[in-house]
Order: sequence, then structure tokens, then C-alpha cells
Amino acid sequence: MCGIFGYVGNKKAIPIVLEGLKTLEYRGYDSAGVAGISQGKTLFYKDKGKIGHLAKLLEKKRLEVEAAIAHTRWATHGKVNSLNAHPHFDAHETLAIVHNGIIENFQKLKSDLVAQGIAFVSETDSEVIAQLFAFHFQGNLKQTLLKILPLLEGSFAIAGVHRNFPKDIFVACKNSPLAIGVGESEYFVSSDVNGFLKYTNKVIFLENHEIGLIQPSGLKIYNEKGEIVAKQTESITSKIEEISKLHYPHFTLKEIYDQPESINRLFKNRFEEEFGAICLKDMGIDEETFMETSRILILACGTSWHAGSVGAYLFESLSRIPTQVEISSEFRYKNPIVMKDTLVIAISQSGETADTLAAVHELKAKGAKVIAVCNREGSELSRLSDHTLFIQAGPEIGVCSTKAFTNQVVLLSLLALHLGRMHHLSKEEGIHFIREIKKLPGLVSEVLSCADEIHVLAKKYNHFTHFFFIGRSYMYPTSLEAALKLKEMSYIHAQAYPAGELKHGPIALIDSNCPTVALFGNKHTFSKLLSNMMEIKAREGPILAFAPRGFDEVSSIVDDVFWLPDTCDEFASIPTSVALQLFSYYMALERGCDIDQPRNLAKSVTVE
Ligand code: G6P
Repeated sequence: MCGIFGYVGNKKAIPIVLEGLKTLEYRGYDSAGVAGISQGKTLFYKDKGKIGHLAKLLEKKRLEVEAAIAHTRWATHGKVNSLNAHPHFDAHETLAIVHNGIIENFQKLKSDLVAQGIAFVSETDSEVIAQLFAFHFQGNLKQTLLKILPLLEGSFAIAGVHRNFPKDIFVACKNSPLAIGVGESEYFVSSDVNGFLKYTNKVIFLENHEIGLIQPSGLKIYNEKGEIVAKQTESITSKIEEISKLHYPHFTLKEIYDQPESINRLFKNRFEEEFGAICLKDMGIDEETFMETSRILILACGTSWHAGSVGAYLFESLSRIPTQVEISSEFRYKNPIVMKDTLVIAISQSGETADTLAAVHELKAKGAKVIAVCNREGSELSRLSDHTLFIQAGPEIGVCSTKAFTNQVVLLSLLALHLGRMHHLSKEEGIHFIREIKKLPGLVSEVLSCADEIHVLAKKYNHFTHFFFIGRSYMYPTSLEAALKLKEMSYIHAQAYPAGELKHGPIALIDSNCPTVALFGNKHTFSKLLSNMMEIKAREGPILAFAPRGFDEVSSIVDDVFWLPDTCDEFASIPTSVALQLFSYYMALERGCDIDQPRNLAKSVTVE
């Protein structure tokens, strides 16, 4: 979603902010812009379209500024056009601001300013910040921020420049992340630390209601009362090499192929196989928390919700702990009941998803203990939660989540086994599951080695415009994720159902133009799924099956089968999902889609 980048220092600011914006491109956007102060004037360029287009505009202008702010916009309020693109200004262009988040009371603030004779030029909520700033400005940046920020309802990360302070960037945030990279006599401002990793791994995270004034010679952070806050500089360990496509045509394909390695990374030092035990000690959660857990509540959105849904089956089956999975955006408005001994697990690849953050805020206010399952160091979710279990998938740049999903499921599997061993699993059962889970990187490699077969299937099926995905037990949430991947990457309509539900309505749509992708990874329900296949065939529906090797009966019923390496039901989501990620990838490739940055999608959804 929207991205902010800013630079103050001795280097040329514009090339640095453009490069910074490029690293935020993966978040999803539709327009881009920059601003800075030059010779007492606020200069800016912005337009709809890609950063490359903005860079070309700027090449001709030779914009020289001392401090620059830049933005990628993902439209929420107002059409995709240059007027609505950021930066935004006051009527006299005394300042420029970029904004992430949503100002929920902007209509009221705007009409008050309009009543004072102030003219607005955009349809955005963000412009009100610039106009309000100018309206209250009396010569001091900090005092103005202290005056206007309490008037803003909703969420924001803001960076701005003012023509009276050509070397300064001012920043502020509330429920929307903003990180400051600390270099030698230079500072970077970014919605995402990856934006400045090339220059520095030293970072300061701005907390809610904090204000920052940044100059090349130093930075000052204040709290909402205007008092100086002493901030800790943290070191980030991600490496810039991890953010490269290498020889792959797309980040998404690279990330699909990363999976054997990313699962292995998560496995390192996790197994005490002879005791059938999982070692999570280094993760800092006291065993008492686990012992006392009698109920689990999982919160997440999108792909992370699908991982959580697989996790719920795992916790109930392996740990025998009742588990509820909730979509964060629904949960937070339910007036949730938090029972004692409930362990809340909030899952988010980015750790920035506004709905999940809001749900966690709500639960923390009610006294719940929250464990984050997250991929991003230093993310807001991680800072908000009592503990974080990092999935260690490495940076995920493709908008469609692939390796983060598998590592989320693997981490939840480890946690479920750990809790299981504490509560009821025997040592022998523990050993059995550890042996099975350790095979996963190898099984994923086997699937990847058959990518060409999946490509052939995609060539056969890519002309269809509607798909059903069905599965039972663990394969139901797996089918939800597979259908989502197909929608996101190839723009084909796909809907997932628990196989047993097909006959309660959806079967009305089955005919020769509506194929079903059937996931057979759950042996326990194999014969039931076969009967569902017969029902589909009786209505001439084409069927593409993903089934474990050895289940030959499948091929006599369905049109095509991709044979998967066999594993136990509990872990079958992993190889099955990888095969289906490849299927969606090749479907999208055949249809010429923008695979790494599908239309309308954002990697980090920072608005509710
Ligand atoms: C967006 C992304 C999805 C992701 C979802 C939740 O919609 O495009 O890939 O699953 O947000 O994101 P999170 O970072 O919380 O896992």
C-alpha cells in the first residue's frame, strides 16, 4: 500500500528518494511523487503511473533540493490521477506533506477550513493535513504539529517539508509505521526499513503520537506533550542481497523456489528428536504460558488467515486445544470475549496490517497475552505483542504471499507439536511427527523439480474463467489459499469450498466450462472426496486433482492429476500449496499478468 520515503543529508536527495521509492514498489501503488524545498520554494512532481515514469519527468527538471520527501499512493479517497497523488500542499505551497493511513474526520476538518476560505484541489483525505498545518503555522514546526495532530482522527504516518526550513523533514505517526534510518550525517525516513538498508541498518522506530524533526546534523523526537524522547537505535539484520530476483524472471517465482531453504532456516536447532520434543526456548516464551493455555485464538487477514486456519486444525488435532480463527477486520467489531488462559496468536507477514493491529490493540486493552507470528523484524505488530515468533522466510517482495505462507504453517506446526507434547502427545508420537516434518524441505524440492508438468497443466487450463477449489480437513484451508493465489496472480475467478459443501448449492454451477481443482492431500477423507468427484463428473465438470502418489484410483475419475510426494495429513498442506503456487504462477504467466504486482493489490494493507 502507500509508501513514504524521505532523505536529508549531504548527497543529492532526489536520486536517493527515487531509489528508496523503488524498494517500496512491492507494497502496491498507482501514483508517485516527490517534493523538496529549493531557493525558498516548494517544488514537487507527481503523477499517476509507475516510479519509472516519475523518474523520467524528473530527469528533464534537474530538481536540486536539500531534503526530499517521496510517496507511492494506493488510492483510497479519490481517483487515480495527478491531483490526488502525493505530496499535498497548502493553498500557498508553503509546505508539502506525504501521508499513509486514513484521516477519518477529514470531511469535517475540510469543511471547517473551506468555511475559512481555504480552497482544496484534491479529493483526498491527506490534503487536509497540509491545509491544517498551514492554517495553524506560526513559525514553529514542532508547535504546529503538537497543535494539529490531536485534531486528526484515524491513522497516519506523515513526512513533510516547509519552505522556511529547507534542511528539515518533519515526521509524525499514529497507528501507521514510520522508520528513520540513521547514517553518517544523513537520515532516511521510510515506511519500511528495506527502503534504506542499502545505506544503513541502524534504525529508530517512531512510536504512536511521536513527532520527529530531522536535519543532517541531528534528529529530535518529541512525545505528544512536546517533551524530548530519548530513542534507542536498533540494528536490523536483513541483508540487501536477499532483496534481489537473482536469475528468476519474477520475485514471486524466486520466492516459490526459496521455500526448501526458508523452511530449513526455520528448522535450525528446533528438534530434540530422541525426546520427540520441539525446542522453542530461544523464542523467549515462558513454558508456563504454554502450560496454562486452554484455548487459542488466531487473528489474521488474507493469506495469513489461511495459514492460521491450517494452524487451527493442527492445534486441535496435535495439541488438543480448542482453537478459534478469526479474520481481524471482523473480529475487532464483535466486542470480543477474552477468556482467561486464552493464548492469542496474531499472524502477519508484514506486521503492518491495519486490521490485525487494530484487533491486537483491542485484545491488549482487554488484558490478553498476544504472540505475534511475523516475518518482519521491528514491525509494529512485533513491537505491540508480548512475544514474537519470527517465521524467518526472508524478505517477501512479490505481492502474493508464497514462502511466508509455508513458513507460517511450518511455524504453527512446530508450535502445535510443542503444545501437543506438553499436553498429551507421547514421546513416540513426537518422534514420528518430527521425522515427518523434517522431510518437508525435501518434499518441496521434489514438487519444484516437477514445475514443467505444472506448466503443461496451466497451458491446458488457463482459458477457463471460473474455478472451484475443494478439499476436506487440512485441505480445505489449503484450497482457500490456492484459490486466492489464482485470483491474485491470474485474475481468474476462483472459489474454494469444503468438498462436502459443494452439493449444498455451488454444484448448480458445475458444467463443462467450470473446472474443479480437487486437493487429495487428506488421506483420512480420501474416499469421501472420491464420491464428490463422481458427483462432479456426473455433471461433466472437468477435474484437475493434486493427489499423493500411490492413490491411483484418482486417475480413473479425474481429467488430470499432478502427483504429490506423500506425507502425513497434518503436513500435507505444505507440498500441496507449493504445487498450487506454481499452478497459479504459470496460469498468470500464460495470461500475461503482472505477477509480482497484480493490479489493485497491495503487499502491506495499512488502512482498515
Ligand atoms: C495483503 C497481501 C496479502 C496478505 C494480506 C495480509 O492483502 O496482498 O498477501 O496475505 O495483506 O498481510 P499480512 O502482512 O498481515 O500477512
